[in-house]
Amino acid sequence: MRMGAQDPALIAVLLNQAHRSREKVFHVLDIGCGEGRFSRKIVELGNNIRVTAFDSAPHSIEIAQGQKSPGIEYHVAAAKDFHVKTRFDAAISEMVLPYAQDLPALREIFACARRHLKETCAFSSVIFNPRFEAFDTRIGNRMYSKSGERSARVHFLDEVGQETFSADWMRFTETEYEESAKREKFRHVEWLPVAPTREAEEAFPDGYWNAYKAHHPYALLKAY
Ligand SMILES: C[S@@+](CC[C@H](N)C(=O)[O-])C[C@H]1O[C@@H](n2cnc3c(N)ncnc32)[C@H](O)[C@@H]1O
Repeated sequence: MRMGAQDPALIAVLLNQAHRSREKVFHVLDIGCGEGRFSRKIVELGNNIRVTAFDSAPHSIEIAQGQKSPGIEYHVAAAKDFHVKTRFDAAISEMVLPYAQDLPALREIFACARRHLKETCAFSSVIFNPRFEAFDTRIGNRMYSKSGERSARVHFLDEVGQETFSADWMRFTETEYEESAKREKFRHVEWLPVAPTREAEEAFPDGYWNAYKAHHPYALLKAY
């Protein structure tokens, strides 16, 4: 999307948790933070919000650390190896779980979130919607194709429909996500919609969001 619906969906969940929290400092773990794009948005949500963020790609963390971002601590690590003593008030990941190559790799990310969260706190993650079926249809600035029995490819398109970038994602089922979370000791899994906000609809009118709203390419999984 030119203006994503994914960020506002995660931000709404985080703000809700931060408002209900009794902690003086609300500490968020951003798993697979890439270049820190979303970590920077999180610390802007409130003066009491801090972020610890990590990614397995050293180059991305180098770029993230090059940005001025008080309140964020970055690490290079894969989810399976990440260990800090802090217990967080929330853990999030945005478009990271579909990069897990198989179920053991998916479970490593849930395990990482669980071992770093305070007992009653939640891991919220934007993922490729397991129920998505509208392959080979242009949706905003993207199109999704099946790249294998269990994988999908996202194609980022420019104004004239030329591909500028593509990436492969695993198509885990809802059951696989739920069972992975529960195996790693999350008791509940909720599925929340990822829909454009009113601001996004106003910024891009004239039916720009119609295909997005009809086909729901993304979903938000909340495990706690
Ligand atoms: C599509 S990017 C998303 C970056 C960021 N969350 C955002 O929304 O801008 C996916 C990122 O997940 C990271 N990643 C995937 N699997 C990971 C793992 N097991 N441990 C740590 N990082 C991981 C990749 O290196 C990549 O930077």
